[in-house]
Amino acid sequence: MLVRMEGIVKRFPGVLANDGVDFDIRPGEIHTLLGENGAGKSTLMSVLAGAYHPDAGSIFIGGKKVVIHSPRDAIRAGVGMVHQHFMLVSSYTVAENATLGLNKPRFLIRSRSLEKDVAEKAQTYGLQVDPSAKIWQLSVGEQQRVEILKMLYRGVKILILDEPTAVLTPQEVDEFFVTLRRMAAAGQGIVFISHKMDEVMRISDRITVMRKGKKIATVAAKETTARDLAIMMVGREVLFQLDKADKPTGQEVLSLQGIWSLSDKRLPALRGLSLSLRAGEILGIAGVAGNGQRELAETITGLRPVTKGRILVNQKDMTNKKPLEMIERGVAHVPEDRKGTGTIPNLAVLDNLMLKCYRYPPFSSGPFLNLRQIRSHAGQLVKRFHITTPSLETETKLLSGGNVQRLILAREIATASELMVAVHPTRGLDIGATESVHQMLIEQRNNGGAILLISEDLDEILSLADRVAVIYEGQITGQMAAKDAKIEDVGLMMAGKTMEASPGETT
Ligand SMILES: Nc1ncnc2c1ncn2[C@@H]1O[C@H](COP(=O)(O)OP(=O)(O)OP(=O)(O)O)[C@@H](O)[C@H]1O
Ligand SMILES: [Mg+2]
Repeated sequence: MLVRMEGIVKRFPGVLANDGVDFDIRPGEIHTLLGENGAGKSTLMSVLAGAYHPDAGSIFIGGKKVVIHSPRDAIRAGVGMVHQHFMLVSSYTVAENATLGLNKPRFLIRSRSLEKDVAEKAQTYGLQVDPSAKIWQLSVGEQQRVEILKMLYRGVKILILDEPTAVLTPQEVDEFFVTLRRMAAAGQGIVFISHKMDEVMRISDRITVMRKGKKIATVAAKETTARDLAIMMVGREVLFQLDKADKPTGQEVLSLQGIWSLSDKRLPALRGLSLSLRAGEILGIAGVAGNGQRELAETITGLRPVTKGRILVNQKDMTNKKPLEMIERGVAHVPEDRKGTGTIPNLAVLDNLMLKCYRYPPFSSGPFLNLRQIRSHAGQLVKRFHITTPSLETETKLLSGGNVQRLILAREIATASELMVAVHPTRGLDIGATESVHQMLIEQRNNGGAILLISEDLDEILSLADRVAVIYEGQITGQMAAKDAKIEDVGLMMAGKTMEASPGETT
């Protein structure tokens, strides 16, 4: 089933998100959409999937012109989309979610046979997930499989995946790509959106590059290079190399002494973890997702209680202090969950930018807010961090994914902090923005900031961090200087193997 979009125009108040875009998808191909944050990728695909009506342009499916009024319409026409931020019902089971909204009354379908059905579909494509599990019990990667299952269950022929790998670990990405290939081999057309160049080069058959709402080009993956794509996307050369000078570190800013903490499922997530971080240092935490990273970030920022052990920030005992007390002690947090913990989606960009500092001078004096100061500060942040937004009053949920991420970074970096806990700080950012976030983090470190960098991207950790600590099942299983770290050794430690002597200690 060939799908063709012609001359698609989509405007939002103050933004021309799609400016006469042509795009087509062939059966059995993996077609990647590439472009900077805010280029219009999600919008274009939302038009195809029936979430938005285009202001102009046409859509042809199998040679016939169609008008798609709703996501349900799109699915009936064979087009399904898994959004950048998924929309599952968390109190339902996997099987219930997969079949949700189908025109069969739920009480008539026996849940056993439903679960069996869903399990079979899962098996065919290698989408391993327990059909009777409730959504809230699943990891993000598993939730994503459910979203995909939901679409396959509806028999879609074109599957649109908006940044599916942004939430996956490297191992999960490998498995996911096997699934993608299987689906393509079965004749599905797949639209894949990603900012990760190596992934794009690895999985795509064709690549379409967008910039500022316009289509720049469609090329065969075999006939292009990452460098050419980057230039098409950004309009200039992009540095893939970081410039980081050696610097002596200062006093200890963070000391974790044998901390224990429980996961959401009330299981031990941190098990006597100890760490030390100094001023002017970036400590990278490497590990496979689900080994306590999230709990680690949340205990340090006051969002999750520790059940045993102590947390010292600048020699002061801050164990089990509230988030606000942590902020006042100079702890910044770039959280994993941008939409939930990171921002309040219904508030304006201005409010989200000022969330942490409006209480303090110069932005308030006593009970009064200084609105002029607030507006001018927020305006500067928008400029400095290249946040694309029609205005400061725009609701944050209307920004593109990458721009929400920039907003959080702007706020957290601007709030003069001595300690920053950054969880996947470049996830979802385009290559230009990734480059500038890396530079900002290094600048912060050079100015004496201490940064705890939690990332699954080993290349990112090894190039940014001064020191690397490996987390495994809630404990630190090895530490070394980043410049001595070998990627294979770190990989083995991430899988639970302890090294005889860590490379940092050998001479
Ligand atoms: N519902 C909406 N209302 C108003 N503006 C919107 C809406 N959706 C998107 N926009 C704007 O349209 C532009 C394109 O956004 P889109 O989400 O398509 O970008 P994107 O290429 O997917 O970026 P990212 O890589 O950051 O996800 C952005 O400037 C965004 O702020
Ligand atoms: Mg997007």
